[in-house]
Amino acid sequence: MNLPATCMSRRSQLERLRATAPSVLPSMLLCDFGNLEREVRRLEEAGVPGFHLDVMDGHFVPNLTYGLPLVEAFRRLTPLPLDVHLMISNPADFVKSFHEAGSDVITIHAEAVERPREVLEQIRELGAGAGLAINPPTPLETVGDALDACDLVLVMSVMPGFGGQKFNPVALDKLRALRQRVDPAVVLEIDGGVNDATIGSCVEAGAELLVVGSAILGHPDYKERVASLRALASES
Ligand code: DX5
Ligand code: ZN
Repeated sequence: MNLPATCMSRRSQLERLRATAPSVLPSMLLCDFGNLEREVRRLEEAGVPGFHLDVMDGHFVPNLTYGLPLVEAFRRLTPLPLDVHLMISNPADFVKSFHEAGSDVITIHAEAVERPREVLEQIRELGAGAGLAINPPTPLETVGDALDACDLVLVMSVMPGFGGQKFNPVALDKLRALRQRVDPAVVLEIDGGVNDATIGSCVEAGAELLVVGSAILGHPDYKERVASLRALASES
């Protein structure tokens, strides 16, 4: 059934994403923002199940990208789930606005807040899927008491801030540990350096959502890229 996003609860959009696992989600950092509608259509036609949007504030990470107006623009352009990755300081101050802008899943960084659990609960109360991202150097132990407030855990395989970085395999150990540790209802996602060479090991380690930036958007033929990555993910 293809209901518009407004007719579905935001959290059910996360279930919709998971139903396509292993799911290849394009990170839109490298898209042509001057032709956003065309980029969205090309990726929809390539069969992506949703969009991963990287919000950076130039403070939590050393790069600035985009914020609420772009999320709103994506919301107008597509009924597909919007997976919004907040690489910002003080995310608690902004989660309501990102929900109102049309985010289905809102992921905050464990390193950006003192008590991630409280912000995750705030996101759930809004009706969005609550995600917690963990940087490569952050041990799982530091987020233990927040894990049962998560609908999704995003394991970073690069330091956040830029696309096109080299995959750090420490993320694979974390995925395996998380799969043992968290409720099976929690969705596991990986982000950073996921490409043809690394996607198989991500799926084997338990990733269900695979965020891919440069290995799709850095190439002219999105359809071919999405199909190839999806085939490699499904073979694993
Ligand atoms: C990194 C972002 C990623 C990034 C992925 O800070 O969170 O989503 O754009 O890009 P690639 O796949 O090129 O590493
Ligand atoms: Zn991201």
